[in-house]
Amino acid sequence: MTATHHETATAAASGAGATARFKSDKAYGGGTPPERVDLLAREVLSAVHDTIRRHKVTYDEYNALKSWLISVGEDGEWPLFLDVWVEHVVEDVATEHREGNKGTIEGPYYVPDAPEQGSTGTIPMRDNEPGTPLTWTGQVRSTDGSPLGGAKVELWHADDEGFYSQFAPGIPEWNLRGTFTTDGEGRFEIHTVRPAPYQIPTDGACGKLIAAAGWHSWRPAHLHVKVSAPGHELLTAQLYFPGDAHNDDDIASAVKPELILDPKPAGDGETIAYDFVLDPERS
Ligand code: DHB
Ligand code: FE
Repeated sequence: MTATHHETATAAASGAGATARFKSDKAYGGGTPPERVDLLAREVLSAVHDTIRRHKVTYDEYNALKSWLISVGEDGEWPLFLDVWVEHVVEDVATEHREGNKGTIEGPYYVPDAPEQGSTGTIPMRDNEPGTPLTWTGQVRSTDGSPLGGAKVELWHADDEGFYSQFAPGIPEWNLRGTFTTDGEGRFEIHTVRPAPYQIPTDGACGKLIAAAGWHSWRPAHLHVKVSAPGHELLTAQLYFPGDAHNDDDIASAVKPELILDPKPAGDGETIAYDFVLDPERS
């Protein structure tokens, strides 16, 4: 609840956590056909070779790259690097056929199987969790308009200081992570708090790149969701708040206009209404 326990939050800690999480949940052991690996590896290398020739890259620059790449691994920051600068294009390509809801990147901090809260409930949080209270009502439907009862809305987000449970120290395991299940009309009502903008760790390799290039390290405040229902494609999305300084220059390029909320003041907090439309699985 206070800032003090975050003083030991480091890139090494969140990077190592993100790397361990990826290896245990997702690590993908191959199966890509050799022709495909050959094509993609050759094209990526050729883009690198072209850049070197076009800009007459020096040995000093080559060695700076080499030591930086080594430090990305040592700092455990490959998940952060890829999710910030590459994933948004993979996501665009993967979902371009969809007619339902726009999605966006997952990022490095999803954890499956967050505690179930029913169709109406409060996300797990600390007593006196800091931040503006947020009440979110919504409905999950299929592209034909039919409500999807029993759909899962998995929600995870940073706290009022921009930290994620299980990746920054000193936060209860499931803080601000919960699974909601829609009622028979596809509806849900979630109580949480507004997250703060998120700064990607500045003390590791990604931070060094950002400083060396003169970029900034901010993502706008966001709520992460995965929405799923039988017979439908899994939707991975993030929702954003209007007026955030970084909606237009998100370091992770993951903001889309369809994902910006329209919060209304209510009591000591805010309400949001946001529905999801899922695409049926393609046969
Ligand atoms: C990163 C962190 C996030 O919270 C996110 O949504 C996307 C990327 C990152 O640090 O790489
Ligand atoms: Fe995030």
